Amino acid sequence: MKFSKISNAIQKGSGQVELRGWIKRKRDLKGKIFLLLRDETGEIQCVCDSAKASSELFKECSHSTIESSVELYGTLHKDNRAPHGIELEIKGFKIVGLADVFPIQKDFSTEFLLDVRHLWLRSSKMRDALKVRATVFDAFRQFMKKKDCIEVAGPMFVTGMVEGSLTLFKVPYFGKKVFLTQSSQFYLEVLMYSLGNVYTIAPSFRAEKSKTTRHLTEFWHAEVELPWIGLDGVMDFEEELIKFITEKVIKERKKELKALGRNPKTLKPVISKKFKRMKYDEVLEIAREKFPYLKKGSDFGEKEERELTKSMDVPLFITHFPRSIKPFYHRPNPKNPAEILCNDLLAPEGYGEIIGSGERTWKVEVLLQRMKEDGIDPKPYQWYIDLRKYGSVPHSGFGLGLERLTAWYCKAKHIRDVVPFPRTINRVYP
Ligand code: 4AD
Ligand code: MG
Repeated sequence: MKFSKISNAIQKGSGQVELRGWIKRKRDLKGKIFLLLRDETGEIQCVCDSAKASSELFKECSHSTIESSVELYGTLHKDNRAPHGIELEIKGFKIVGLADVFPIQKDFSTEFLLDVRHLWLRSSKMRDALKVRATVFDAFRQFMKKKDCIEVAGPMFVTGMVEGSLTLFKVPYFGKKVFLTQSSQFYLEVLMYSLGNVYTIAPSFRAEKSKTTRHLTEFWHAEVELPWIGLDGVMDFEEELIKFITEKVIKERKKELKALGRNPKTLKPVISKKFKRMKYDEVLEIAREKFPYLKKGSDFGEKEERELTKSMDVPLFITHFPRSIKPFYHRPNPKNPAEILCNDLLAPEGYGEIIGSGERTWKVEVLLQRMKEDGIDPKPYQWYIDLRKYGSVPHSGFGLGLERLTAWYCKAKHIRDVVPFPRTINRVYP
């Protein structure tokens, strides 16, 4: 037998086809059984009519249950009442794996769907989001290739922090002080000295205690490090990257975006318009109108970023944050050492930060001073400090949260809606 995919069968619209997949819905109506068959490409209505089918065939169709896997064949006809206007009249039917009563029937509460995530992943909502996600990963890699960036990987077991000690996960490691990596950035900085432009796509881990709609404890991090590049250069690179990924997503995932409630046209300005670049001080002024408690030196959180970006249609760069609120590796502005040469990129429509980025401190004395200010013991970072001793160069880099980017494209209410097996403060199952 040569099985067709459902989308091809729908396109064909007539004649005989053999299909296989899973039963999404089943209805018995006046001697007819209607089965909605799904595979990874789509859904098609299949009907078995007791007036035309043999009693054996009708019995086998009746016996099938929701989420049973089946193989069938039959003829395609036009039928305006069916989804896509095409219906298949079943001529042969075989149950491959009979399903028990499927648990997802009435209870669609968030917690329940997370408990049965292994089954909920069959829903069209999850399937569509995961297809968009796959395109985001693919487009990111394509762009890296275009820019002659070499793919590398850092370790997951590390001995130092990158983004503050508060969100470190400690792991038992033969009596040593070891953590799960928060970012591969420092290892990319090492590899840049031999490979030039480098990138990685890897998980990062954060013991995030805050319950927000955009924090995971394990997320996929696309990180890039570029030698001989400054703040403006790295922002140009990021803008071109986001435009490139957005264009691919619109082109390749129109159907999925629409099904998820995202009109692809609303993403077009991201490609055509220049992203706004604003300094922290300017943004603070604007944010204070709504949040008067913000002071110079306050960071923007989920709430503030949502407000700032909710009516925008393109991402916003915020640059030159105060020295006190960014980690030690960021380079202070030589013209104004109270601020650093960094940027966050915020997605529009309330989604907020998707990229953290900037120039790196590349002079050894500045780095040691920054570590001292933050009370950091330089010992575990000796190798990182070494990089500043042996032919240091100005360089910049960034980290892009791939789930945050995907969530924005998909108009997801929560970041976990675009992750197959989300890890959050109280969720590590399944
Ligand atoms: O801003 P962050 O913390 O920057 C870094 O980790 C840098 N060391 C990256 C670099 O320059 N190589 O994280 C970068 C991005 C954020 O903008 C966000 O998109 C994502 O990673 N991110 C998270 N995504 C989901 N859940 C979390 N808990 C995240 N924390 C950061
Ligand atoms: Mg950040």
